[in-house]
Amino acid sequence: MQTINVALIGQGFMGRAHSNAWGQVAKFFKPPIRPVMHTVFGEKGVDPDPQGFAANWGWQNLSTDWKATVTSPEIGLVDIVTPNYMHAPVAKEALAAGKHVACEKPLAGTLQDAREMAEAARAAKARGVKTFVWFNYRRCPAVALAHRLVKEGAIGEIRHVRATYLQDWANEDVPLLWRFDKKLAGSGAHGDLNAHIIDMTRFVTGSEIVEVVGAIAETFIKKRRLPKGPAGETLGAGTAGEEWGDVTVDDTVLFLARFANGAVASFEAARQATGNQNRNTFEINGTKGALKFDFERMNELQYYDATRPRAVQGWTTIMCTHAPDHPYIFAWWPDAHIIGYEHGFVNQAFDILRVIAGEEPTVPIPDFEDAYQTQRVLEAALISAQERRCVRIDEVK
Ligand SMILES: NC(=O)c1ccc[n+]([C@@H]2O[C@H](COP(=O)([O-])OP(=O)(O)OC[C@H]3O[C@@H](n4cnc5c(N)ncnc54)[C@H](O)[C@@H]3O)[C@@H](O)[C@H]2O)c1
Repeated sequence: MQTINVALIGQGFMGRAHSNAWGQVAKFFKPPIRPVMHTVFGEKGVDPDPQGFAANWGWQNLSTDWKATVTSPEIGLVDIVTPNYMHAPVAKEALAAGKHVACEKPLAGTLQDAREMAEAARAAKARGVKTFVWFNYRRCPAVALAHRLVKEGAIGEIRHVRATYLQDWANEDVPLLWRFDKKLAGSGAHGDLNAHIIDMTRFVTGSEIVEVVGAIAETFIKKRRLPKGPAGETLGAGTAGEEWGDVTVDDTVLFLARFANGAVASFEAARQATGNQNRNTFEINGTKGALKFDFERMNELQYYDATRPRAVQGWTTIMCTHAPDHPYIFAWWPDAHIIGYEHGFVNQAFDILRVIAGEEPTVPIPDFEDAYQTQRVLEAALISAQERRCVRIDEVK
């Protein structure tokens, strides 16, 4: 069987999720190419235990030099799971060396980095090199089903899109991790969470956002204690030291937008929305029906069929665990033996390997060009919040 050597750049939260995905994918699916967990990059002083991470997850080699790794003739696919400021340099180096690149979201911390990545991907595509972005929620069977239902016309013309991604982990005890530093992250809840719901609603509706009509950005906690552990200590694990630093990103961003299909939309991302731990949701209302998704109940899709007699109209809860009607489930468990967060990443690893082999993914998978469109919307919302005005996406390039 054909194989591809994978290099993973980063060892944090996503380092674990992706290591699991590369380790599991060929056990559950039968991808046309088998991934080999060749090298993981980690740094002493940044990552708590680089060697231990490599050994635990089954990486054959540990690298302390990402440039040498992503240009090595032995590597075929580079997978980037570092903070956002590193996405562009690592991706551009890997693409120039002819490697396929899978990068975590958001595509980059800044629009300029994202634009350069999209340009580099365009040039590489002409040489047969492929790019992917880990907008993993597209690969939840319930979200993929919503995409299919909209495409089949089940809810008619879309009028409303309402999306929220609410978390509540960022109280004042949390130290100033990279996620609160504009130089490393680009933005806060916005790039972290709105990126997901912009991508997910573009995917489900099949339409582009053309205008951000207004936005609010707020930073509630303006100073945090600097972390005293290694810089790479992940979300929820950082220990605060004595020194203080400035928070330079948002805690929350809300914005209103219009889609090309005429729908109006609202988006809200927050890290201090007490009571919501990982509430990634959308509700889409069309002329013939509606759909609702909440990641905290990720195996379910809510469907309202407005073509049924009025007497029996109501929300139907669809358990999206039946193969082959529900995508990806054929590889997992019998009906209602539910799947979890990590399965989205395994599903995506499967589709990445299919695309590299020249096959179609189960549902469309975003490349750098596609993720650049999401980045333009993110940027438009930041401009809108700063300048208190309506921003058309075609003025953000
Ligand atoms: N797809 C998703 O749902 C999802 C979820 C979380 C994070 N992400 C994205 O994945 C990427 C990594 O996020 P994470 O949650 O794994 O982060 P993390 O803090 O858990 O890990 C970051 C890793 O990056 C490396 N690193 C290099 N320079 C660093 C620095 N200056 N500070 C800290 N770490 C440094 C370290 O190896 C560290 O382990 C980000 O782009 C983030 O937006 C995506």
